[in-house]
Amino acid sequence: MVLSVYVDGSSQGNPGLAGIGVVACDEKGQVVATRQRPLPSATNNEAEYQAVLEGLRLARELGASEVIVFSDSELVVRQLQGAYQVRSEGLKGLWREAKALMRQFRRCEIRHIPREQNAQANRLAQQASDLASFRPRAVKIAPSILSADFRRLGEVVRELTESGADWVHFDVMDGHFVPNISFGLPVIEALRPETSLPFDVHLMIAEPERYVDAFVKAGADIVAVHVEATAHLHRLVARIKELGAKASVALNPATPAEWIRPILPFLDVVLVMTVDPGFAGQKFLPFVLDKVRTVRRWMDEQGLTAELEVDGGVTAANAADCVAAGATVLVSASGIFQSGLPIPDAIEALRQAVKKVTGDGTEKEGEPPSEGCRCG
Ligand code: DX5
Ligand code: ZN
Repeated sequence: MVLSVYVDGSSQGNPGLAGIGVVACDEKGQVVATRQRPLPSATNNEAEYQAVLEGLRLARELGASEVIVFSDSELVVRQLQGAYQVRSEGLKGLWREAKALMRQFRRCEIRHIPREQNAQANRLAQQASDLASFRPRAVKIAPSILSADFRRLGEVVRELTESGADWVHFDVMDGHFVPNISFGLPVIEALRPETSLPFDVHLMIAEPERYVDAFVKAGADIVAVHVEATAHLHRLVARIKELGAKASVALNPATPAEWIRPILPFLDVVLVMTVDPGFAGQKFLPFVLDKVRTVRRWMDEQGLTAELEVDGGVTAANAADCVAAGATVLVSASGIFQSGLPIPDAIEALRQAVKKVTGDGTEKEGEPPSEGCRCG
């Protein structure tokens, strides 16, 4: 049996949201099988290689002795034909795997086709990458009390609890690491009996190692320290965990993601600042989303399940972008307390805003292809 296998891989510019589609046709051009699946993480070229691999596996499962693989990626086709060299380290392993599979057929050709002729595989890949974005990733809302009415913080915390907030975010500022002073230990201690919600304590202070013990004692469940504020990050993270709290490391907008890469497996939370810390009510910095995507990709590659938290200027207008980039926790101060909405409605507005990315917590099923194969 000679099979024509149309393949496509797509990451839509976002490696966290990649997918592949495969359509196998018999000699008469009839579709005999299709495949699609999301990829946890892949660039466009990696996704295309994965699609080729899937196509070859499918052909083997269908018992084909001869196979022609069609792809609209000039680069991947030429590399597999031997016309182009494979330079990228990331692609070399995939190329070798594909070549090994290709040798298992009596005849195996790989041919380039224009994108328009690969519409069905392309649609399956797009759908599959949508499935990736619909991966039910529970999103937590962590209101920051920095913009709340400080005269009645006890009530505020109780109201947050009743409004379905997931964490309470505390912004501790020392007037040194950041150009503002907010509140410290006694406030956290005083509010601790008011709720059982986790206290997410964001230390924007110099020498955080001097204070983590006291903050955990005061009631912090999660302690965030800035990577820019301490020289011995690993030791500090280990100490926070030893104290029985969850360890979070925060990065300022201009701090490269690489700074936390070695320590990623030790973290419970990564806190990516989307404003320069110091004040509530600042404008969200969209360039930081690239960093969120990078951290998300590293975490997915290593199978890490830490929370990825964004903080600063987060509102219902950009919450979906944050979640699509890979965030799982949204901090918001003015987006909740200055939104003009009652607290439960403001929290609900954030939840609604991310729904188009998370779905309703249920995975969307891929639809089977309805039309015949455009073979030839
Ligand atoms: C910034 C703080 C944030 C801030 C967020 O220094 O770390 O948590 O309170 O405030 P909004 O959501 O108003 O930007
Ligand atoms: Zn914060």
